[in-house]
Amino acid sequence: MPRKIAAGNWKMNGVGAALSEIDALIAAHPTPVSRIVICPPATLIHRMAARAQGSALAIGGQTCHTASKGAHTGDISATMLAEAGATHVILGHSERRADHGETDAQINAQAQAALAAGLTVILCIGETEAERDADVTLAVVETQLAHSVPEGVTAANLVIAYEPVWAIGTGRVPTTDQIAEVHAAIRTHLVTRFGEQGHEISVLYGGSVKPDNAAQIFAVPDVNGALVGGASLKAADFGGIITALDAA
Ligand code: 13P
Repeated sequence: MPRKIAAGNWKMNGVGAALSEIDALIAAHPTPVSRIVICPPATLIHRMAARAQGSALAIGGQTCHTASKGAHTGDISATMLAEAGATHVILGHSERRADHGETDAQINAQAQAALAAGLTVILCIGETEAERDADVTLAVVETQLAHSVPEGVTAANLVIAYEPVWAIGTGRVPTTDQIAEVHAAIRTHLVTRFGEQGHEISVLYGGSVKPDNAAQIFAVPDVNGALVGGASLKAADFGGIITALDAA
């Protein structure tokens, strides 16, 4: 069975004062069944990792460069994330694809850099609303997987997050049938490409996951957890999602 994972993507939210949410989260979930990951802004990684030491909480970055160092003003490398205390990194988020024009080929190279630095990659894929309306969702997701996931990954270093772009931050969630259809296609791709490992790779759903819809989403076949944006910022909200996943 794939590992159950509740991952929080803080995006560009949180300064030092937000670290109290991490203390509260750790106190409320000392021994979760699920893997818990928080991906804060890069400025908080080191402090958060220090707070999380000895707890069940893992820390992740939100992107990384393809190179380990060099003349790339404003960028951050996988080596730097790992040195700061991160064990995970989100790659290919739709906001990176949209705001920074990141392509599948670049995301693939970033993933290789992250794996080389010993990080677990949480790789995001998902269709836009126009693509869903045009009935090309499965083709879009398949293309993203084929081009952005590097060869040689295992269940220990890759997590897939299916995040329909139109469900992010909108309060709109696909039907459970729609989620099931995409997750089944993702599983088929992973098994076809990676054999036994493909059965073990965790596949998360992301997009407007809240404490009150989490249990329903986690009951969908091949949903092994969630990548959560807004509801991961508050320990009480994220805690509700963790509790639902632990029970699923
Ligand atoms: P929301 O949970 O705020 O919709 O964000 C989802 C997301 O983009 C997580 O990466």
